[in-house]
Amino acid sequence: MPSTATKIGNFTFDNCLMNAAGVYCMTKDELAEVEASAAGSFVTKTGTLEPRLGNPEPRYVNVPLGSINSMGLPNNGFNYYLDYVIELQNQPHTKNHFLSVVGLSVDETHKILQTIQDSDYQGLVELNLSCPNVPGKPQIAYDFETTTEILTKVFSYYTKPLGVKLPPYFDIVHFDQAAAVFNQFPLAFVNCVNSIGNGLYVDDEAVVIKPKNGFGGIGGDYIKPTALANVHAFYQRLKPEIKIIGTGGVKTGRDAFEHILCGASMVQIGTALQKEGVQVFERITDELRAIMEEKGYSSLEDFRGKLQYID
Ligand code: SIN
Repeated sequence: MPSTATKIGNFTFDNCLMNAAGVYCMTKDELAEVEASAAGSFVTKTGTLEPRLGNPEPRYVNVPLGSINSMGLPNNGFNYYLDYVIELQNQPHTKNHFLSVVGLSVDETHKILQTIQDSDYQGLVELNLSCPNVPGKPQIAYDFETTTEILTKVFSYYTKPLGVKLPPYFDIVHFDQAAAVFNQFPLAFVNCVNSIGNGLYVDDEAVVIKPKNGFGGIGGDYIKPTALANVHAFYQRLKPEIKIIGTGGVKTGRDAFEHILCGASMVQIGTALQKEGVQVFERITDELRAIMEEKGYSSLEDFRGKLQYID
């Protein structure tokens, strides 16, 4: 049977599929469900310095081709998630995990990362530089100067494996500029992409979510081509030790296959997981394996990044 096992740095995963931050990861119970599923890992809800209630409801709505959300980083505070991944880390036969965090200010981000640096947690951390939903707070990774400043300071004290969650970029020059920034740092991975920020879904004559008068992050089918473009653009530009996590529009094995073909080492599922529940991992894994079998591929390395161009 083809293997969907993968690696990020020194961390191994039996399966390349996992949840995307924001879905099935708010509470320990939800995380435990992903842990017990066919997923190869989980990432926690992005934890901030203090717990947050997030934006007013309705704030997440499934729409025909995907989803729109403006959650506003509701979470139990990063310590809640840090305690849980440390607890799991100390159990036998545990999977490797991703702890997602960001501060509401640069100082808060450093406080969080300093705490993780000083903790017993030895696993992966995903620094979320791309949340589009906190009113008044821009998506950090669209500002290359601030991103450079943050990462320069982070890597002056942070020595554990760290990656960044990125917003989608839409311009070739921005791919070049962003990659030049990330290549300066010992990042373990970049995660492409967060939702396409600040879309507007209209139903009859009204918006469908309350925060920001309806503006919210778009996920699902709408974003797969953008996600694949970002995965491949960074696969072409980043130093090979920075692995790519592909996120966006994955609801079938074929979608996961395309992310890996474009260069992804791991593939995250958000909207489809929200719609279908954790059994989505087994279904998509089976579909991915069937495609690999049909093509004669026994491992992800057989086709990762091998997207074909037209001469
Ligand atoms: C949110 O909580 O608003 C979504 C998280 C994100 O887009 O990073």
